[in-house]
Amino acid sequence: MKGLILSGGKGTRLRPITHTSAKQLVPVANKPVLFYGIEAMAEAGIEQVGIIIAPETGDEIRAAAGDGSQFGVSITYVEQDEPGGLAHASLTAEEYLDGEPFVMYLGDNLLQGGITDLVESFRASAPDALILLTPVDDPENYGVAELDAGRVVRLVEKPPQPATNLALVGVYMFTAGIHDAARAIERSARGELEITDAIQHLVDEGRRVEPHVVRGWWKDTGRLEDMLEANRLVLDRIEPRIDGELVDAQCDGRVIVEQGAVLERTTVRGPAVIGAGARLTDAYIGPYTSIGEDCVITGAEVEHSILLAGSKVANLAGRMESSLLGRNVTISRSERQPRAYRFMVGDNSEIGIL
Ligand code: TTP
Repeated sequence: MKGLILSGGKGTRLRPITHTSAKQLVPVANKPVLFYGIEAMAEAGIEQVGIIIAPETGDEIRAAAGDGSQFGVSITYVEQDEPGGLAHASLTAEEYLDGEPFVMYLGDNLLQGGITDLVESFRASAPDALILLTPVDDPENYGVAELDAGRVVRLVEKPPQPATNLALVGVYMFTAGIHDAARAIERSARGELEITDAIQHLVDEGRRVEPHVVRGWWKDTGRLEDMLEANRLVLDRIEPRIDGELVDAQCDGRVIVEQGAVLERTTVRGPAVIGAGARLTDAYIGPYTSIGEDCVITGAEVEHSILLAGSKVANLAGRMESSLLGRNVTISRSERQPRAYRFMVGDNSEIGIL
């Protein structure tokens, strides 16, 4: 059995971060989202992992995940020439998959319980496809499955009147038959080959498609609020560890301070993680915050946020919260006249001020 992680796509909902970087590399608790997927594969005993990459962000993903040896798997990169949809991505990998059954995992998804259970139940009952489902409060925003006698009988994308509350989670198990299904379907109204249509095609052909309801949480990190929520969920389970230096500073609760970080006259209230080489001075870091490597925070309060490597926050009058800062971003307050807001921000940025 092989693994296929989808790490291409457009990432429009996470602009401007995705103008310069792959969304799958945004860190959750200071680890790229993509790595959680690769680790889940390794944990389930899958040794060969294909990663779908887009031409624009592929190099960055290759550089981060490498040949997979850091995870104990062997990674092969497969370039998808256009973001043609999830079924298009699986078709792009057909040659790599070489007729083997595979687990397909969306590279911006996080699954608390991993995929070991799923892989085992696929091996045990050998269906044509196995899809992961989870009950949600707002099924109209998801692909929704209808079941009958332990089988999936219908899949509907974002139904206005959902027949069930079982949403499709971004992890699927397939046999090679999915490729023919992907070839048989038409592009949807948004111009993509939809995986729900390909699976529905399997059902319509009388193939056995089984459901697997997940225990534990699942998070698609495609939007800012989901990314922050994923960060919250992962930080809630970290083991506290202080390897950096505390000078007149205090850490309460679940806090990781990486080696080389220096905290001076600073309070960190966990869960939080402070990256290697970060410098925090006269600062307050509130719960559910991930501070990346080499960030500098001076005279400021930050809570429920993710700061990527090299960002600087200084002398803010109010607390910064629910924010995602890209790499090397600077936010500061200056005493210089005129006392005005001064911005230099890229396309599709969002700024909320007091
Ligand atoms: P989505 O988040 O559904 O799509 P997207 O990345 O284009 O984002 P947005 O809707 O914000 O524009 O994709 C889920 C995952 O699958 C994500 O990791 C990207 C990946 N993907 C591909 O690899 N190829 C594709 O053709 C598509 C559509 C997505």
